[in-house]
Amino acid sequence: MEKKKIALITGVTGQDGSYLSEFLLGKGYEVHGVIRRSSVDYRERIAHLEGKPDFHIHYADMGDSMSLVKLVGKVQPTEIYNLAAQSHVQVSFDAPEFTADVDAVGVLRILEAVRTNHLEHHCRIYQASTSELYGKVEEVPQNELTPFHPYSPYAVAKLYGYWIVKEYREAYGMYCCSGILFNHESERRGETFVTRKITLAAARIAQGKQEKLFLGNLSSLRDWGYAKDYVECMWLILQQEQPDDFVIATGVQHSVREFAYLAFKTAGMELEFRGEGIDEKGVCVAGPANLVGKTLVEVSEDFYRPTDVVNLLGDPSKAKRELGWDPQSTSFEQLVSIMVKHDMQKVAADHVAGVMRTNLAEYLEKGITK
Ligand code: NAP
Ligand code: GDD
Repeated sequence: MEKKKIALITGVTGQDGSYLSEFLLGKGYEVHGVIRRSSVDYRERIAHLEGKPDFHIHYADMGDSMSLVKLVGKVQPTEIYNLAAQSHVQVSFDAPEFTADVDAVGVLRILEAVRTNHLEHHCRIYQASTSELYGKVEEVPQNELTPFHPYSPYAVAKLYGYWIVKEYREAYGMYCCSGILFNHESERRGETFVTRKITLAAARIAQGKQEKLFLGNLSSLRDWGYAKDYVECMWLILQQEQPDDFVIATGVQHSVREFAYLAFKTAGMELEFRGEGIDEKGVCVAGPANLVGKTLVEVSEDFYRPTDVVNLLGDPSKAKRELGWDPQSTSFEQLVSIMVKHDMQKVAADHVAGVMRTNLAEYLEKGITK
C-alpha cells in the first residue's frame, strides 16, 4: 500500500492555506497546519475543517526556529507548503523589520528545520513566491526569465525567500520550488486587500450600511485570478519529476478602476469615473434612486504607497505546458461575481454586526484601515 502523504502548511489560517487544506484533504493527504499563538483565535477560514480526522493544527511561529524544528520533527512531512507571511504590501512599509523576519528569514528557518531533521531528501518544499518580485517591471508580460526589481520591503523580503530556496536546491539537492503567483482573490480574501475592500464596500453601500469607498491608485494594473484555482498549482509544482519554479497567472490584466466598476455594477450600481488622479470620483449614474447622482468612490492619499507596483501581467505558458494547468478556468467576470454575491449575503446576514460594520465603514472612510 502506498504510504500516506503528509502535508505541513504554514499560514493555514490565511486565504490560500484554507483552500489548500481542503484541496489536499480531498486528495487523501494527512494535513497539518501551523497557527501562531494569539490572544484571539482567528480561525474563521479553517473552522469547518477542525475535527476532521486527517486535519491537525499545531502552534509554531515563523519567527521562532525552535518551534519549527520541533514541529517538522514531530510531523515528519512529505511536503511542506510555506505560505505564512506578513502578506500586505502597504503594511510592509510600516513594519519592514517584522516583514523581513517572517517573509525572508522565515523561509530559511523552514529549510533549516528540514535539514536539522534529516528530511532534506524525503520532504518537498513549496515556497509562496510572488509577482511582487517583478515590482518596477522591466518587461510586460512577466515570465520565469523576467528580471526581478522588487519595489517594497515585502518584495525585497520575498526576493530573499526566492533565492534561498534556489540556493538550497542547488547546494543540498533539496526538492524545493517557488510558485511565482500573481494576485489571486476570493470570498476569503483579507478585507484590506483592494478587491475584497471593494466587494465588501459595494455590498455595504448597496444595503445602506456605508456611504462611500476611499481607494488609492485606481490605475494600478493587476492580473487577478481565483485563489481556489491557484492552490491546485502549488500541489502540481511539487508533483513534477524535477524541482522547478513556475509563474502562475491568468494572462489577463485589469485596473483597480475596472474591478470597482464591475463590482459595483454586480451589486446594482453603475459608476461613472470623472476627474483624474487624486480628484477622480466614481459617481453613481444608474441604480437605486437614493444613490443616483451620489459620489460612491473617492481617492484618498492614505492608500497611496511610497513606491507602488502598477503593471503586473503574468505569462503562464510554462505552467500551462508543463503542469497542464488551465489559467482561465475562472474568468475575471466570474471572480468578481463570486466575491460580490458572497459579500451581498454576508452583509445582509450581519444584522447584529450591522452597527459595528457601520463603524468599520467610518474607519474605512477616514482611511484608518489600509
Ligand atoms: P494571508 O491570507 O495574509 O495569510 C498569511 C498567513 O500567514 C496567515 O495564516 C497568517 O497567520 C500567517 N502568518 C503570518 N505571520 C506568521 C508568523 N510569524 N508565524 C506563523 N504564521 C504567520 O495570505 P494569502 O493571501 O493566503 O497568501 C499566502 C502566501 O502567498 C503568502 O506568503 C503571500 O505572501 C503569498 N502570495 C499571495 C498572493 C495573493 O495574491 N494572495 C500572491 C502571491 C504570493 P494569522 O492568521 O495568524 O495572521
Ligand atoms: N490594499 C489596497 N487598498 N490597495 C489599493 C487601494 C486600497 O485602498 N487602492 C488602490 N490600491 C492598489 C495598490 O496600490 C496596488 O497597486 C493594487 O491596488 C493591489 O493592492 P493589494 O490588493 O493590496 O495587493 P498587492 O498587489 O499589493 O499584493 C497582493 O498581491 C501580491 C502578488 O502580486 C498580496 O496578496 C501580496 O501578498 C502578493 O504577493
